[in-house]
Amino acid sequence: MKWLSLALALVAPSQAYIRFGCATLSVQRLDPVVEPGRLPSAHLHQIVGGNAFNASMTGDIGEKATCTTCSFSEDFSNYWTAVLYFKARNGTYKRVPQYPNALLGSLTGGMTVYYLQQDFNSNGKTKITSFKPGFRMTVGSPTSTKGGNPGLKYTCLKDIMTRGSETDDFPKQPCAAGIMAIHHFPACWDGKNLDSPNHQDHMYNTVKGMFQNAGPCPASHPVRMPQVAYETMWNTTQFNDKSLWPADGSQPFVWSFDDSKGYGTHGDYLFGWKGDALQRAMDSTSLVSNNLKTQSVAEANKCALKTTINEPIDGWLDKLPGAGGM
Ligand SMILES: *[C@@H]1O[C@H](CO)[C@@H](O)[C@H](O)[C@H]1NC(C)=O
Ligand SMILES: *[C@@H]1O[C@H](CO)[C@@H](O)[C@H](O)[C@H]1NC(C)=O
Ligand SMILES: *[C@@H]1O[C@H](CO)[C@@H](O)[C@H](O)[C@H]1NC(C)=O
Repeated sequence: MKWLSLALALVAPSQAYIRFGCATLSVQRLDPVVEPGRLPSAHLHQIVGGNAFNASMTGDIGEKATCTTCSFSEDFSNYWTAVLYFKARNGTYKRVPQYPNALLGSLTGGMTVYYLQQDFNSNGKTKITSFKPGFRMTVGSPTSTKGGNPGLKYTCLKDIMTRGSETDDFPKQPCAAGIMAIHHFPACWDGKNLDSPNHQDHMYNTVKGMFQNAGPCPASHPVRMPQVAYETMWNTTQFNDKSLWPADGSQPFVWSFDDSKGYGTHGDYLFGWKGDALQRAMDSTSLVSNNLKTQSVAEANKCALKTTINEPIDGWLDKLPGAGGM
């Protein structure tokens, strides 16, 4: 029997990523990375992860949070993006609801988070170094007016499983199952700085998108980190009637920083895994059999954060929260 189980082990597909759902933790105008301490921040965010999230959080978040909305219960990191709004013909706005990835159970809203080793299918041979406590980074910029980053994309969802057919800007036609916003973060670190003034220069982006192996890290940023990616599913179906769309035929969705093209798409990451949990996962050659602790969907959904910025974000709004500032 021994040879049989060995043979089975050899043909078992190798999994080189951890993929998990995180329910919505909070939707409010806070941004501890780009605008630390500022109450409120310029535009609205949807945030998932640990409940240590606040405007001025610092230090070892893995030791400060007491619950997380993520399926892996040792992950107290925070992950956030801007929020999608529908802009009606009369100029009012309504928030687009989020829905969870089909593969990950009935979490409330939120996003899917990935940490890859080499690429989607292969662990590779390179050592993948975990982020350190206090580490933070962003990808993309709300002021960007053109595409070109292979890691920042949209997919027009025909159904919940549609993948591929990525675009740099918002889909131009109604998407039956909504719009997926995709954010791949850079994977090369300078080995020294937990952050940098623009929250990007301590990282170097060699990401090719679509969960391919990121290109080799340059000498300036030699340390290969996990490739982090987010997928956020926006349920646009209540807005898909084209008679509600602008009369000139343009698409009606805007990011919460008032971007109707979509090129300003960006994501924020604040590391907060407990202890060496992420490093242990990245060191295991089959991430299927990693030793990470999990929690139930009900437990993840239960973790919540009090909203400290009290302003309307739902219903028909005359203007975007904070008037869509950048
Ligand atoms: C925010 O979190 C930090 C720890 O990261 C804590 O020291 C601070 O008291 C918190 N601030 C508020 C307003 O809760
Ligand atoms: C604006 O348009 C939306 C969508 O058509 C509608 O539901 C809402 O009532 C309108 N608001 C006003 C003030 O006309
Ligand atoms: C998307 O929104 C529609 C309309 O509000 C709703 O009927 C449907 O259940 C939602 N789908 C998911 C997957 O949440």
